[in-house]
Amino acid sequence: MNGSVLPLDYAETADRDEFRRAVIAGLSARPRAIPAKFLYDARGSALFDEICELPEYYLTRTETMILSQRAGEIGRRAGPGCALVEFGSGSSVKSRLLIEALPDLALYAPIDISRAHLDATAARLRRDYPWLQVLPVCADFMGPVPPIVHDGRLLGFFPGSTIGNLEPPEATAFLRHARRLLGNDGALVLGVDLRKDPQRLHDAYNDKAGVTAAFTLNLLRRMNRELHATFDLSGFAHEASYNPVDGRIEIYFRSLRDQSVTVAGQRFDFAAGERVHTEYSYKYDTSGIAALAKSGGFRIAETWTDPDRLFAVTYLEAA
Ligand code: AVJ
Repeated sequence: MNGSVLPLDYAETADRDEFRRAVIAGLSARPRAIPAKFLYDARGSALFDEICELPEYYLTRTETMILSQRAGEIGRRAGPGCALVEFGSGSSVKSRLLIEALPDLALYAPIDISRAHLDATAARLRRDYPWLQVLPVCADFMGPVPPIVHDGRLLGFFPGSTIGNLEPPEATAFLRHARRLLGNDGALVLGVDLRKDPQRLHDAYNDKAGVTAAFTLNLLRRMNRELHATFDLSGFAHEASYNPVDGRIEIYFRSLRDQSVTVAGQRFDFAAGERVHTEYSYKYDTSGIAALAKSGGFRIAETWTDPDRLFAVTYLEAA
């Protein structure tokens, strides 16, 4: 039964044309910025998996711990016969905790922009859970997704504080989109990184091993490879700092000298010190999460956190 399910390809956003258009627009704009989703080519996705293992990057291991402690409770709340829909599934490591805890789970639909990740993940899940129907959807989770046909509750899963990459209006738009997809009976398990000691936040995005820097600079490599760009990787540096006013980590690549670069046949000049924005990583407090949930048409049924209050997993129900 599983073998008949082909990946649904809604990946306009993953293709080279859109990458080129976004890069040209982003480097022509002031301030310069390239959307974070383009960080996740095959190498970028692998580097992100490495980030998740870093000692400074507490997010993944803390969330995994909360989920493993609470999976049973989540399963009882969701009830039997759900379909699990994951937004931005990556390598689906955390989803296994829910797959194993949800009673009579009927279907798992991972949505991810990285085709390579999605195919490998689906194959592994089908091997490990032969009873489970796996329906991979190759798409930008912000964009249109085919309706997921299921006679029972749809449980969304948006872990990892991926929502932190979105600016607040986009985060609201995402939740509304998820709310529509999951329906009136829907629920969403949402992982959110919490505000905390700025030094701790700073270190999580400036690791000693330099993996986060490699992740940011991989975007330059991707432009060189896919857009015939001429970035000299030694002429740019990763920069990440915490902005306590807006409660967000801000990530850029910075030009170390005056230089010009050609991208898809167009020339771009960079002054020494000039930056190109690549990511925000928003951090929330409990009132911020509640306001966000409400703006997206959900209410918080439950919030779980770790003893150090580093990270929160919330169970949202359609309001
Ligand atoms: C995948 C968006 C949750 O913001 O922590 C990690 C991405 N970038 N280190 C984050 C990221 C640099 C990550 N999210």
